[in-house]
Amino acid sequence: MLAIAAVPPAADPGASVSAPPPLQELDLPASLPGEHDLLVAVEAVGVNPVDTKVRAGLSPGSPPRVLGWDGCGRVEAMGAAVDGFATGDRVWFAGDITRPGCQAQRVAVDARIAARAPSNLSAAEAAALPLTALTAWEALFDRLGLDPDGGDAGRALLVLGGAGGVGSILIQLARRAGLLVIATASRFESQAWAREMGADHVLDHREPLGPQLQALGLDGVDLIANLHDTDAYWQAMAELIRPQGAIVAIVGNRAPLDLDLLKSKSVRFCWEFMFTRPRYGTADMGEQGRILARVTALVEAGELRTTLRETLRPIAARTLEQAHGLLASGRTIGKIALEGWA
Ligand SMILES: NC(=O)c1ccc[n+]([C@@H]2O[C@H](COP(=O)([O-])OP(=O)(O)OC[C@H]3O[C@@H](n4cnc5c(N)ncnc54)[C@H](OP(=O)(O)O)[C@@H]3O)[C@@H](O)[C@H]2O)c1
Repeated sequence: MLAIAAVPPAADPGASVSAPPPLQELDLPASLPGEHDLLVAVEAVGVNPVDTKVRAGLSPGSPPRVLGWDGCGRVEAMGAAVDGFATGDRVWFAGDITRPGCQAQRVAVDARIAARAPSNLSAAEAAALPLTALTAWEALFDRLGLDPDGGDAGRALLVLGGAGGVGSILIQLARRAGLLVIATASRFESQAWAREMGADHVLDHREPLGPQLQALGLDGVDLIANLHDTDAYWQAMAELIRPQGAIVAIVGNRAPLDLDLLKSKSVRFCWEFMFTRPRYGTADMGEQGRILARVTALVEAGELRTTLRETLRPIAARTLEQAHGLLASGRTIGKIALEGWA
């Protein structure tokens, strides 16, 4: 089967490594489904910053790595323990970072973390969503413990980085939950997009946020979802969060964080890492399949929409390189997906 892989150079102790390993089209043996797996014929893949991070982290001499943890395709075969799927079903999934990614014609994915894809979306529109929807859902409803259906309506949520892949779907979920959503974006088009996703207010993250909140008549916020840079926003978050508020972050810190800054306000801080459940095979990992099924129902009901902004065709090393370049700019709006095979 055709797969796109990052292929690190041979180990050479004398060589200095700077560029990420090249992406190459390889002919690899198709995966065999394990007992809990679906074997999926991939139709479209979403790209995410995790792809470029994993690629950049590959050391010389390590084996080629198929990237991509966002996909939509048809079930071709399945393991003996799989329940609730049939061959031919169109499914979507993010998958497991410890397994090969889905930028390949076929991928094996644990059925417990997959779901039927929305029937009203194209493969590319669907592939744009799973990883970011799982991240956003878990951040808001599992980590911050909010009620997806309105039990926390009216509480003020600040979304740092509202126009990116995660922000675009997190804003929609938060708005649907009835929160007052204040998102940040720095350019005319990203600000317009954040509003289109449902943000009540949009602040410019190039300018200090406190005065912009005050201009809205807000002394602070009850909740913060930091989708950009945990270190850079730590001090500001400690200032902007209201007493007894809660903060969730999704980007790992580079330097130690001063947790004491949150103590006098009794603020709760939590991490969200979308791959925790599959990576550790937690007892509740099937929750990701249930979240995706819930998102499918909400998309089909017209309550959520795809965040796809750009589709590249076909799925190839050239188009994937182009997508990685766009992601590296740090200025993408919504999501990029690749669709179809040459
Ligand atoms: N923990 C997890 O499970 C998890 C899951 C998904 C993603 N992530 C990580 O979360 C981060 C965001 O992912 P993503 O897919 O949303 O990325 P993305 O789509 O590449 O984000 C692009 C957005 O970042 C915004 N941005 C740029 N500078 C910013 C700043 N100073 N403050 C706030 N926002 C800024 C840009 O908005 P403007 O153009 O308006 O400035 C742009 O729209 C990445 O580091 C990714 O690896 C973690």
